[in-house]
Amino acid sequence: MVTTNQNIETAEPTNIVIFGVTGDLSKRKLMPALVRMLCCGLVHTDSKIIGVVNNRTEEVWINLVREGMQEFSPEIIADESRWKKFLARLIMVPGDLGDDATYQRLAESLAEINGKKNAMFYCAIPPAWYGKVTGGLDKAGLADESEGYRRLVIEKPFGHNLESAKRLNKELQSVFKEDQIYRIDHYLGKESVQNLLVYRFANSIMEPLWNRNYVDHVQISTAETLGVEYRAKYYEKSGALRDMIQSHLMQMMTLVAMEPPVEFTADAVRDEKMKVLRAIRSIKPEEIKIHTVSAQYASGTVEGEEVKAYVSEEFVSPDSATETFSAVRFYIDNWRWQGVPFILWSGKRMKSKASEVMIRFRKPPFNLFDSHASAPAANALVFRLQPEGGVVLRLNAKKPGLTTDNEEMVMRAPYADDTGEVADAYEILMHDVLTGDGTLFSRADEVETSWEIVEPILDAWKNRVSVERYRAGTWDIPAMEELTKDCVGGWHIPTVRK
Ligand SMILES: NC(=O)c1ccc[n+]([C@@H]2O[C@H](COP(=O)([O-])OP(=O)(O)OC[C@H]3O[C@@H](n4cnc5c(N)ncnc54)[C@H](OP(=O)(O)O)[C@@H]3O)[C@@H](O)[C@H]2O)c1
Repeated sequence: MVTTNQNIETAEPTNIVIFGVTGDLSKRKLMPALVRMLCCGLVHTDSKIIGVVNNRTEEVWINLVREGMQEFSPEIIADESRWKKFLARLIMVPGDLGDDATYQRLAESLAEINGKKNAMFYCAIPPAWYGKVTGGLDKAGLADESEGYRRLVIEKPFGHNLESAKRLNKELQSVFKEDQIYRIDHYLGKESVQNLLVYRFANSIMEPLWNRNYVDHVQISTAETLGVEYRAKYYEKSGALRDMIQSHLMQMMTLVAMEPPVEFTADAVRDEKMKVLRAIRSIKPEEIKIHTVSAQYASGTVEGEEVKAYVSEEFVSPDSATETFSAVRFYIDNWRWQGVPFILWSGKRMKSKASEVMIRFRKPPFNLFDSHASAPAANALVFRLQPEGGVVLRLNAKKPGLTTDNEEMVMRAPYADDTGEVADAYEILMHDVLTGDGTLFSRADEVETSWEIVEPILDAWKNRVSVERYRAGTWDIPAMEELTKDCVGGWHIPTVRK
């Protein structure tokens, strides 16, 4: 959580409108984030939080909010004065998203605060409703900025493939200008992802090493111990490539690979990210098997608990070929990165949970210390995003004793100490929306280009009837060894706190 002693900008008072305020995302993330933002001054205390609620009375809705808060932010409920302050900001607008009258009621409910009717519209709803909501807002005159700013927040997935992403962008842009649209990717709100940018661009020792002359390869990964959980209906149509690689991991790749932007502003950063995407070598249909891996979890044991196979999960077809593990080896055809593999991988029901960006440097060119010990390992710089944020530098050092034998030394810089001053991604990103900073949000062209890059893989996997299996709770995916066989150090399996 952000504390008030940090140098932060309080946003102008605003109407924070949430569509889907009774849903899972609102309960787990948005409402707890908003309450904390109000407490620490990230949200102006005169702001209103307007929930668009279907088929429920206000009393039922407030009870739902309280229950959600009790589950995900019990400290708020325990502090009666904070809870009451939050409650006083809540307004309910009843209505169905498909009914134009809902948007009329919403327009009438927007509060004029300090002479303005600013509004942020957060779509925490199934993507199929995005078009209907933007259309409804348009008809009610709610995209017009003459009375105050109007900003639209859209949750991923931004389309299902290139065609649907283009259609969605067209729909959104027919009502809102691109700079009013905030496509949220909560990975980019993580402190450690932003720390990656600060490490790169606030330290002069990084830049000389950050290129094909010193970097052997890059691995960007998310390993989860969880299975598909309650998301099976969505996941069956998505799979790991769409769910993680096309979105979060490709976004992180652009941040690792981009050139220094001329300034830290939304379009300057996004222009550089776009150049990376445009330089990614397209994968020809006949090369897909060489550059990708896909697999699905079978039953196994995760963290001491027996878990079922993906195909035995509720709402999953018994002959499903949806991948729960996926990896792609990309190449970026530009001067900085020519020939350096960027391996993006993501899997469910892995042995341990970790999200990392690992920059593996080349091996020392020659082993001066020709001893009985093994040759020095190639250095690595690892940005750990979760479970605990931090940066790890792996160097070689002399083993204590009379020889010059070396051993790997790990220099670890935890991202934060135990003071809890790490803001939640949703707090950071919603604050960015309220202050009009789109730097950490995806622009329409980025979304479309990333779909264009993965489209040949999606096409190749579309009609397949089977997929490799791996035992849940293991790293037992031989194809990953093959995919990384020319990379120094091979497949980088994240270790717990190492
Ligand atoms: N949950 C997450 O952690 C997560 C993470 C990343 C992205 N997302 C994205 O966030 C969005 C919301 O996800 P979610 O998990 O919160 O979904 P969810 O639990 O299914 O909630 C959907 C919300 O939309 C409302 N809604 C649906 N149809 C409506 C209608 N006709 N009129 C009024 N309200 C309607 C639902 O209201 P009722 O309660 O009345 O049905 C509910 O509040 C999705 O786009 C998802 O992909 C979610």
